[in-house]
Amino acid sequence: MADVIAGEAPADESGDVLVVPVFGGGAWGPGADWAAAELGEWVDGYLEDEEFTGKSGQLASVPGGSLPYDRVLFVGLGDEVDLEGIRRAAGSAGRTTSKYERVVTTLHQVDIEGATEATALGWRLGQYRFDKYLSDPKPLRTETVLLAGGDADQPSIARGTAVAAGVALARDLINEPAAAKAPEILAGRAVDIAEAHGIAVRVYDESEIEAERFGGLAAVNAGATNPARMVVLRYTPEGASRTLAMVGKGIVFDSGGLSIKPAKSMETMKVDMSGAAAVYGAMQAIATLQIPVNVIGITPLTENLTGGAAQRPGDVMRARNGKTIEVLNTDAEGRLILADGLSLAAEDEPDLIVDIATLTGACAVALGPRIAGLWTNSDAAADEVVASAAAAGEKVWRMPLEAEYRAQIDSNVADMKNTGEREGSAITAALLLEEFVGDVSWVHLDIAGPARAASADHYLAKGGTGFGVRTLVELAASYASR
Ligand code: BES
Ligand code: MN
Ligand code: ZN
Repeated sequence: MADVIAGEAPADESGDVLVVPVFGGGAWGPGADWAAAELGEWVDGYLEDEEFTGKSGQLASVPGGSLPYDRVLFVGLGDEVDLEGIRRAAGSAGRTTSKYERVVTTLHQVDIEGATEATALGWRLGQYRFDKYLSDPKPLRTETVLLAGGDADQPSIARGTAVAAGVALARDLINEPAAAKAPEILAGRAVDIAEAHGIAVRVYDESEIEAERFGGLAAVNAGATNPARMVVLRYTPEGASRTLAMVGKGIVFDSGGLSIKPAKSMETMKVDMSGAAAVYGAMQAIATLQIPVNVIGITPLTENLTGGAAQRPGDVMRARNGKTIEVLNTDAEGRLILADGLSLAAEDEPDLIVDIATLTGACAVALGPRIAGLWTNSDAAADEVVASAAAAGEKVWRMPLEAEYRAQIDSNVADMKNTGEREGSAITAALLLEEFVGDVSWVHLDIAGPARAASADHYLAKGGTGFGVRTLVELAASYASR
């Protein structure tokens, strides 16, 4: 990965390429005015011919002429520039300049608070790739991204870099094939991350899962050969007073179980541990940045498979908090393992529990591939998480926890059943989760849509997105004692 560093004004630096921003309508951004003047008048005509107008996401590359750069890359920011626009421009620039070793930019000089952090973050994410299984990977040659001039400060660069590393960690885990991330292996990765960052960690093995009454996790794991794991991370920095619990769905592969999925729907189901991955990525970043807030990360890990011992439609399981669930559809498995994770989180009486899960196709249908659904038992907590997501540049939309639909999951043999009607099924999933948080403030994020990108775009690569890491880090910062 490239180093992001601060340097002098572009006239006093040199490199393979200089990346400068242009606003919508073609107004030069910081550094672009200088570059254009040095290059000469032909640039205006050239950009016009190329129909480069500074629209968000537009790129135009020209030879560097007499400048101390081989090329100049103009990157469009659009009319209404915000931090997310800078992240996206940095991501696009990072992606297209990966063949250059030394890249210099003035993007961080756009006059918005946080532009330096956004540039570092977007650039790193744009250069993310998952190529460990490629025989002939496209090389990432960038060694240095130099932020030229302005007031690029080291702490901002460090923040952007740490958050990007958390997102990249989550993406790596999500993109890993399921066969290479069995619960024991993924739990081992979690232990490595924890130990490298001063986070305490406990891994419950299959006998402890039984002894500790994690009945939902055990029920889903029954159809799998690889044993389940419950991973609990605890970050307890000095001086922290508030406690945030994060519970991430960790289905390393979702076949649907006996209520088996069609082949097409199964193709992407290695991403069904994106919630757990977001918890690991966020906790790594929070610990790196030494944010003074206690964080408990809880990630139940299992595959959902169809072995001879698999749970059957009609079976009843008992979750950690004692409540029973009749399992009518074994493909509604996320809520079963989250029942245990949420029960465990509630026992600690944290200030807030946030769960994050690729929970329902219905949520993805409702909100599409870029927006997470948010459900909560607390208006105040909803506002906090919505504000954190907005600041982080991730899209979440509050959905109703409609009590009138609770009757849909009434069962005559258990305290509840695990599915209701098809219509509104993202809501009944949330209503089931609510049964396991007691009276603790709780927010549920359904990331079935945004967990995965179908194609590359700005700082997103095709595949796992690491959605949620940025929101969780931002939330932790807003909970930190100052
Ligand atoms: N992991 C899936 C949800 C999902 C779907 C995530 C598409 C990402 C993309 C979840 O376990 C599931 O299968 N949900 C079912 C619930 C239904 C059986 C009530 C669904 O959404 O169809
Ligand atoms: Mn499922
Ligand atoms: Zn699932």
